[in-house]
Amino acid sequence: LFSVLFGRKWREGEPPLIKGWIPFVGKTLEFRKDSHQFLTKLQQQYGDVFTVLIAGKYMTFVMDPLLYPSVIKRGRQLDFHDFSDQAASVTFGYPAVRGGRFPGLSEQIQKLFRLLQGDSLDVLTFRMMGNLQVVLRRSLSIPEGAFPKDDWQVEDLYEPKDDWQAKDDWQAEDDWQAKDDWQAEDLYEFCYRVMFEATFLSIYGRPEQGAAHPGMNTLQENFRKFDSVFPLLIARVPIALLGQTKGIRQKLLSFFHPCRIGKWIDPCEFVQRRVHLFDQYDTLGDLDKAAHHFAILWASVGNTIPAAFWSLYHLLTHPEALAAVRQEIMGVVSQEEAESICTRDITLTREQLDRLIYLESALNESLRLSSASMNIRVVQEDFTLSLDAQRAVNLRKGDFIVLHPQSMHMDPDIYPQPRMYRFDRFVEAGREKTDFYKHSQKLHYYRMPFGSGSTQCPGRFFAVNELKQFICVVLLMFQLELPAGQEDARLDTSRAGLGILPPANHITLRYRPNSLQQPN
Ligand code: HEM
Repeated sequence: LFSVLFGRKWREGEPPLIKGWIPFVGKTLEFRKDSHQFLTKLQQQYGDVFTVLIAGKYMTFVMDPLLYPSVIKRGRQLDFHDFSDQAASVTFGYPAVRGGRFPGLSEQIQKLFRLLQGDSLDVLTFRMMGNLQVVLRRSLSIPEGAFPKDDWQVEDLYEPKDDWQAKDDWQAEDDWQAKDDWQAEDLYEFCYRVMFEATFLSIYGRPEQGAAHPGMNTLQENFRKFDSVFPLLIARVPIALLGQTKGIRQKLLSFFHPCRIGKWIDPCEFVQRRVHLFDQYDTLGDLDKAAHHFAILWASVGNTIPAAFWSLYHLLTHPEALAAVRQEIMGVVSQEEAESICTRDITLTREQLDRLIYLESALNESLRLSSASMNIRVVQEDFTLSLDAQRAVNLRKGDFIVLHPQSMHMDPDIYPQPRMYRFDRFVEAGREKTDFYKHSQKLHYYRMPFGSGSTQCPGRFFAVNELKQFICVVLLMFQLELPAGQEDARLDTSRAGLGILPPANHITLRYRPNSLQQPN
């Protein structure tokens, strides 16, 4: 309490201390305004390692990426899960997992993350491909099950309406008509609704009846409201002070109530095993279990949606990138598959996805430009952290050690012209480029949108696959354009520290089914 009220005193051997004039608040406002700029200025003034008071916490930033390994490899003294367990339990509304009430649960939860990799990942990826096509076809107003019979030709879909009113070989013909002209939608909305629903279906499974979960729109609306106050919840602002948030979170949790989840058809193995795991703990109530499931929804779409936005936006605003990526996609799917995607599912195997090297580079470049996550570790005991052969700093128990990858992603020494989008930045001689340098020394860590070390995002392989699939399906299914005269998309920096930043402004997208494209 003394140190909160009066500020703590710097001790010999500790990093420079920057605590501002206002107790508790410290430098919070400057940090929130533009964390990258703020930290760069402090680095110029105080060197590569310094401690700043932010929102009541003393955070020691290690800015030089050549020093990152010294932090990432100290798992025992610099723990991630202490922080994430506390933050997640307060945010999503379940009792903290560590600390004795749920013996073994934390370890089991970690173990199940392996079901987001390997063979289980292939299954999840396959499901995502199907679901993306189901959801995107709705944008063409083609209901599921309305596929034409075998003698169908792709052109049939785009015949003038009068003509195909007369056809009697369509199923459910009266219920729908293909939208054969341009539609306009906010680009972020487009990415939001598609990635949200397709990911949901792939992870949690289908409803008992039909292809779309009843209440999906309301779920999305409530999710957005909750997500908009997410930065405050993570910063430990009590939920009672956040207006309707508690009620909204309650509604979200009730969507994942065990009675409901138990009825969904074919959830992925990861979710099935989590349901089973939670059932073994009598100390977990139904809403606690629901809160754990909801947390996975947030983890799986919270970053993927803005990532889908930036990936598509950058391609649509860089014709040379779009042309290269299109050509690469056409190298892995057949002409026939491409032409029939509006009505027939195509699949992309792991091997096909792996061959999309330029697309992967383009995605990674978009992530580099939009990612603003912080890697936080909690100091477990007072100790001296040795940084390199010459430098060491004393750390205090309970403080945070923070890596700020955005500063590395924007370092002109590592990435020349760092603000520029270069879709092929991560390709060299037809393969993934992995050597990046700082002060002429090769970096071990150079791209960190998914965190680092043993605590890296367990969903990262799925995330990259689904982003690749999203771009492939959207480019194959639609002709897309961003109408001229719009301002460039800007990053919404108010969510700095939490992952991929969403856009701050509206961007209009126009699209129509691809085969309506006029030959040049
Ligand atoms: C954790 C980023 C997609 C599941 C994290 C962390 C980051 C991250 C930065 C914290 C890691 C650390 O601090 O070391 C991203 C980004 C994504 C993405 C940028 C998309 C572009 C996904 C997906 C899933 C997922 C699709 C699940 C299907 C998780 C989980 C954790 C996590 C469960 C917590 C891990 C733990 O508690 O140990 N993610 N993620 N993420 N992510 Fe992701």
